Amino acid sequence: MLRTHTCGELTIKDLGKEITLTGWVQKSRDLGGMTFVDIRDRYGITQLAFNSDDDADLRAKARELGREFVISVKGTVIERSSKNLKIATGEIEIKVSKLDILNPAKLPPFLIEDETDGGDDLRMKYRYLDLRRNPVRNNLVLRHKMAQEVRRYLDGLDFIEVETPVLIKSTPEGARDFVVPSRMNPGEFYALPQSPQTFKQLLMVSGFDRYFQIVKCFRDEDLRADRQPEFTQIDCEMAFIEQEDILNVFEGLIKNLFKNVKGIDLGEVPRMQYADAMRLYGSDKPDTRFGMQFVELTEVVKGADFPVFDNAELVVGINAKGCAEYTRKQLDELTDFVKRPQVGATGLVYCRYNNDGSLKSSVDKFYSEDALKKWAAAFGAEAGDLMLVMAGPAEKVRKQLNELRLEMGNRLGLRDKNTFAPLWVLDFPLLEWDEESGRYHAMHHPFTSPKPEDISLLDSKPGEVRANAYDMVINGTEIGGGSIRIHDRELQALMFKHLGFSKEEAQKQFGFLMEAFEFGAPPHGGIAFGFDRLVSIFAGLDSIRDVIAFPKNNSGRDVMIDSPSTISEEQLKELSIKTSN
Ligand code: AMO
Repeated sequence: MLRTHTCGELTIKDLGKEITLTGWVQKSRDLGGMTFVDIRDRYGITQLAFNSDDDADLRAKARELGREFVISVKGTVIERSSKNLKIATGEIEIKVSKLDILNPAKLPPFLIEDETDGGDDLRMKYRYLDLRRNPVRNNLVLRHKMAQEVRRYLDGLDFIEVETPVLIKSTPEGARDFVVPSRMNPGEFYALPQSPQTFKQLLMVSGFDRYFQIVKCFRDEDLRADRQPEFTQIDCEMAFIEQEDILNVFEGLIKNLFKNVKGIDLGEVPRMQYADAMRLYGSDKPDTRFGMQFVELTEVVKGADFPVFDNAELVVGINAKGCAEYTRKQLDELTDFVKRPQVGATGLVYCRYNNDGSLKSSVDKFYSEDALKKWAAAFGAEAGDLMLVMAGPAEKVRKQLNELRLEMGNRLGLRDKNTFAPLWVLDFPLLEWDEESGRYHAMHHPFTSPKPEDISLLDSKPGEVRANAYDMVINGTEIGGGSIRIHDRELQALMFKHLGFSKEEAQKQFGFLMEAFEFGAPPHGGIAFGFDRLVSIFAGLDSIRDVIAFPKNNSGRDVMIDSPSTISEEQLKELSIKTSN
């Protein structure tokens, strides 16, 4: 070892010890007679002291040190005269007898401090320097701890971690595939897994009984704060179970993580039907840190000759408690918010329930105070409240009101990062209509089993068939999803038919799975958690980028290594890829 101790280790108990430390220069201060240098490594910071009795060469060398130089020092642990009780090593310093510069460093392009002056792009280009900063490194330490805890919990329940291949063929999770050309099979491509879905099901056919894997998945989709083209799942599957077993085991996993990593008792995770989530929150991932549930007013407001409400399929609103005193400006801001193209509403109606008990709405022309009283009754509103109402086609207006509800949650400080509201959303629809392709798609994936009592609706009302599918949501983020699978060849073939696959297509893409179902497939089901999302929620961060060591930017680029990049003509030829020239 080049060192006897780390930079976070020495305390008053070590006074008088002869030690060697190695690390990076955090900063140095030259106070005329004295030079102080802070040396840093992963474990902490220790102060080095050089004073006027020191050898002139040693002092000169100390003065030469720049930020981020890599150094090694020998010296004695002594007591500091001015102590810093905020850090573990703050009562001591090292009287240095020997200083070696192991490697000088260029001036870093941004400050390697907790609060840095570097913008996003610069920090991404020099991510290895960004990773020297405590907050960024701490996120990865948290990630490591959580991964260990996941393994410990699942291993304790007899889950076996199995690695599945990365060069595979398309797995339909609803995104585009990343593909890799095969040199040895000209004109043919592998796809990178969007998830190990089919492999984990095959492992159940193999009798593994309980499988998990902390695994990279790849999806070529538009990026957002909670999406990366490559991300990590805690992927799990169990045989001979029912939905209730999965919910219990994995509720246990999440509770265990909260308890052992954050010291938080999560309590029982509430459950909600998908249909209720959509009706009460306009979202399949409601943020239940706060109430403000939707109240439907369609019948209450009809017949007042206000065309916007009379012609609407759904009139629905939220009660913003205590907001009756919102100014005109604030209300205009809310209207502008819902009219933004991202939300896409045509407008917003409001009704103040003033503190003096009077009611005043933006549609007073159509609604008398008596009529508004009926609104207030429907909302359960009290003096001081503000009712916000939107109208339109049911599905659309619910989505728009969901955005407004979240915005109000933000404005009212109801979305505290240190409050955790987990939720199971159950009984998702099996199929979802896709306008673009004009046909039904599997809402979760094509291997999800329909509820047996709904199978008869597959022909007549496919949109109403419910699936044995579930999501776990925390604070409005979908952190995991799974389902009980089909394990019967005939039912799987029927599903493919309903999803618009011809027999030949189904056979070509998934023949291997359907064949496996003929060799003794046990009933099985599972779930996958988005590990990056889970870590970012634990860390109280808005973006999963901050919990990934080397993330991609919003255009899917790694600006540090400059990827993706072009490849040579020769490589293209070898891969049998024709170029335009
Ligand atoms: P699903 O597609 O719901 O299910 O994915 C599981 C979880 O993975 C996370 N996730 C992502 N995280 C970051 N970036 C992305 N691009 C991204 N996409 C998804 C989400 C999501 O809940 N095979 C099924 C699971 C199963 O049925 O067992 C699957 O992949 O948190």
